[in-house]
Amino acid sequence: MRGNGPERLRGRRRERAALEELVAEVAAGRSAVLVLRGDAGIGKSALLDHLAARAAGHRVAR
Ligand SMILES: Nc1ncnc2c1ncn2[C@@H]1O[C@H](COP(=O)(O)OP(=O)(O)O)[C@@H](O)[C@H]1O
Ligand SMILES: [Mg+2]
Repeated sequence: MRGNGPERLRGRRRERAALEELVAEVAAGRSAVLVLRGDAGIGKSALLDHLAARAAGHRVAR
């Protein structure tokens, strides 16, 4: 996704829902951990870019 803009992410409805739920947990003051794994090129970084772009008000360390 790098250089393409997070708004260009296609599909991944379930994965996005899971990641957004994680942010909601953190926003509610609970700590949470999620392991995102998959083969090279499957779209892990693209998903994380998308998530980071939606984590307004949170500090994101990468
Ligand atoms: N859901 C998606 N929608 C659009 N492009 C995607 C999607 N997932 C991956 N890509 C594109 O495919 C390429 C590889 O994805 P990337 O996130 O770098 O994979 P990974 O981090 O798992 O190795 C990148 O150019 C990325 O932008
Ligand atoms: Mg990657």
